[in-house]
Amino acid sequence: MAKIHWKGSSLLAPVPPVMVTCGDMENANIITVAWAGIINTHPPRVSISVRPTRHSYGIIRERGEFAINLTPASLVRECDYCGIYTGAKVDKFAKTGLHKEPAQVVACPIIAECPLALECRVLDILPQGTHDLFLAEVVGVDVEDSLLDENGRLCLERAGLMAFAHGEYFSLGDKLGGFGFSAAKKKPPQGKRADGRQIRRK
Ligand SMILES: Cc1cc2nc3c(=O)[nH]c(=O)nc-3n(C[C@H](O)[C@H](O)[C@H](O)COP(=O)(O)O)c2cc1C
Repeated sequence: MAKIHWKGSSLLAPVPPVMVTCGDMENANIITVAWAGIINTHPPRVSISVRPTRHSYGIIRERGEFAINLTPASLVRECDYCGIYTGAKVDKFAKTGLHKEPAQVVACPIIAECPLALECRVLDILPQGTHDLFLAEVVGVDVEDSLLDENGRLCLERAGLMAFAHGEYFSLGDKLGGFGFSAAKKKPPQGKRADGRQIRRK
């Protein structure tokens, strides 16, 4: 099919619309951020890009800390609200009904209703143009115990996370495969051996 050629644009999708908390337990704010990403595995590093005009920008810059709260589809309205209104004028915790919970390492609260939070400490602030990129180390992870199976393995699919693509919110669809599944040996169909012969049951 023919492609139309446009000039460069940051049209990357889908991305995670996360709720970033900042401040402290008394004076906390939430900003919705979709320009968020993983930068490195070990040490664990992530980034968020925030416009300097946002109320949260000064708070994160001054305190050098924030938390990335992963957003389940059930919180789509709260997530959108935190991306429309400014903490300079409204208390977004009070308005959305979301609850603050103390984090384990950083001073800013995490959101009790979010199933998983990454506690982040800012390493660098890199101006990009419209947004400044906050490069941060993940210094703690807070995970709801209901996401762990009996062996302590994280089952993130239970979190019901959502995605953001081209200005719209989506819940995640069906699982298509696991990491590396395309290289895995095919399992024989049920009741058959790898050589295709029927398994005889006694
Ligand atoms: C889905 C969504 C994603 C957003 N992503 C970003 C982002 O990545 N960076 C940013 O600076 N603002 C982003 N915004 C806008 C801010 O969340 C919005 O301006 C917010 O009201 C700022 O809050 P604050 O003034 O309390 O900090 C986004 C908004 C929405 C709804």
